Parts: sequence; structure tokens; C-alpha cells
Amino acid sequence: MKKILITGGLGFIGSHTVVELQNAGFDVVIIDDLSNSSVEVLDNIGKITGEKPEYYQIDLRIKEEVKDFFNKVNVDGIIHFAAFKAVGESVQKPLEYYENNIGALVYILQEMRDRNIDHFIFSSSCTVYGQADELPITEKAPIKPAESPYGNTKQIGEEIIRDTCKANDLNAIALRYFNPIGAHGSLEIGELPLGVPLNLVPYITETAVGIRKELMVFGDDYDTPDGTPIRDYVHVVDLAKAHVAALKRLIHKENKQNFEYFNIGTGKGNSVIEIIKAFEKTNNLKLNYRVADRREGDVTAAYADTTFANKELKWNTEKSLEEALKSAYEWQKKQTINVE
Ligand code: UFG
Repeated sequence: MKKILITGGLGFIGSHTVVELQNAGFDVVIIDDLSNSSVEVLDNIGKITGEKPEYYQIDLRIKEEVKDFFNKVNVDGIIHFAAFKAVGESVQKPLEYYENNIGALVYILQEMRDRNIDHFIFSSSCTVYGQADELPITEKAPIKPAESPYGNTKQIGEEIIRDTCKANDLNAIALRYFNPIGAHGSLEIGELPLGVPLNLVPYITETAVGIRKELMVFGDDYDTPDGTPIRDYVHVVDLAKAHVAALKRLIHKENKQNFEYFNIGTGKGNSVIEIIKAFEKTNNLKLNYRVADRREGDVTAAYADTTFANKELKWNTEKSLEEALKSAYEWQKKQTINVE
């Protein structure tokens, strides 16, 4: 049984990926510093899969801690989620973002090189494309200058991995996520934003249960059919399964280059207003929302061409937008009950 290290394995995408890896028969070990997650997620993963994963609370910015971990635990591959991810915060705190998102990546890759650990999967983002000139966005679309330090850490991260693959015997895949939403069908794990949510769907669900008074639609004067920006919203369980597919590709040596990158989305774009309407219809409720000013840094439209991932990873999305929006709401309701 292959043992896979999942950094950031208690976070939103990480926890769903741990479940899918366990379901696929992998042995999993998690590193998480709990900076944006809760240790209870471990038990909740255990409730779903019947197996509470091995876990280490480690700060990956501390090189000695990283080394100590690898001295203790042997792994066959790594999926690296651990990173800061708030775009606006990254503008205020660039050095914290570079230290965490780049420093930790370098330390992990050094350990991989020194110990001949081969398979590496990196959480990248469609933000590397900026406002693409052509839609849907293929992997051939040029990388645009990053709009934020966060976005830059994803671009630089990919470059560091590319250079490392060239110099060392490492095989790696970067997955460029579009917009992950939803929760696990068991409702044991889901998205747990700290404080006021920055992303659309968590803000919608918190508004729906009354934690937030009103949802702001950030601009309706974009060049789209209803004037609101378009994104590719992908169910987090589908996204999680893409990691299993990518890992198997590396393990079975099916990769065509030692560094590859794939778009992970549904291939469909939806506007903010379409998401609001779909959420209302699916969950049979009315959301309190109003149009506000544009948010700085938002692109008009981004949705994936997933042909490459479908063919090469033999991966397709299976869940609908409605399923994602329903699970997001059910998950939110469950959290709210727990709080009361
Ligand atoms: N939006 C609102 N109101 C809100 C929140 C969001 O109208 O309260 C709008 C945004 O303006 C945008 C859309 O909803 O048009 C989606 O916004 P999100 O913040 O949910 O997602 P983004 O596409 O901006 O960002 C996501 C990730 C980032 C990542 C980016 C590109 O959150 O980490 O995709 O990869 F960088």
C-alpha cells in the first residue's frame, strides 16, 4: 500500500482528498498546522472512511520540523495543499504569503530530492491565467502577471517545481483549480471559513442561515450576459478525485513529461446571479442580496477547457452544480446547529 503525505489535509480541499485517497486504498498521513482548520476534522474523516488518519501538527515554515517528520515517516508521494489562500490578505501581508507558500514548498522539495521521494502533486489555481484572452481556458493559455502575492505564489510555485523536475528525478503534477464549492455527501466535512467568508458560496450559505444579513453582488456591469462575473464552480468531491487520478498517473508512470499541469473544473461557466438563482431554487428559499461596487482584482470570466484532464487523467466531474449548492447549504445548517 502506497503511503501518501497530505499537507494541509485538514483543510477544505485537503480533507475531501484524504477521504478519496483512503477510499481508493491509499495509506494517508496528514500534516497540518491548524492555522485555518480544526483538529476535529480528523475524527470526521474517520467517521466517513472508518479510519482516522495518522496526523502531525507541524509548521512547514520551520525547516527542522520538516526534516524531523521525514526522518520519522516514510512516504511514497506528497500532495501539497498547505498554503495561505486569501487574495486580499496577501496584498497586505506579502512576506507571510511568500514565506508560507514558497518557503514550505522548497523545504518539502528538498526532502523529496534528498530521500528520492518521487510523486508530487501541487495545488495550483486558475488565477495563474488572469483574464484569459480566450474562453474556455486551455492549459496552453499564457500565464498572465499575477494580480496578487497569493496568485504569484502559485505561479512561482509551479516554476520552482518545473525547475526541480528538470534538475532532479522528480515527477510532478500541478492541478489548476477553478472554484471549488460544496461539501461531502455525509456532511461530516465541508468548508469552514474563519470569520467573514471571502468566497461567494460560503457567503451565500451564511446569508441563507442568517449569520450574514445580506449578500453583496460585487458589480453587475461586467461584459457578461447578466453583467455579473462568470466562474467555473466545481464540486469539491469531484476536485478531490482529480488528485487520486493524478497520483495514479504518476505511480503508473503514465505521465508524458516529468512536470505536467491540468485544469480542474467543470467546463461550464456560471455568473454570480446564476449561482444565486440556482441556490434559491435548489434549496427552496430566497436570498437577501443587493448589487454593490466591483471588488478589486476580479476578472470578468474564467472557466476551464477540461479536455486535457478528461483525456489524460481519465477524470470527469460527476456531480451537478445543484448537488454542490445543496450540500453546501446542508453543511452550513449543520454547523449552525452545532454553534447554537
Ligand atoms: N462575489 C460576490 N460576493 C461575495 C463574494 C464573491 O459577488 O460576497 C463574486 C466575486 O466578485 C466573483 C465571484 O463571486 O465574481 C466568485 O468569487 P470567489 O471569491 O468565490 O472566487 P474567486 O473566483 O474570486 O476566487 C477563487 C479563489 C481564489 C483564487 C481564485 C482564482 O477563492 O483563491 O478563485 O483561482 F485565487
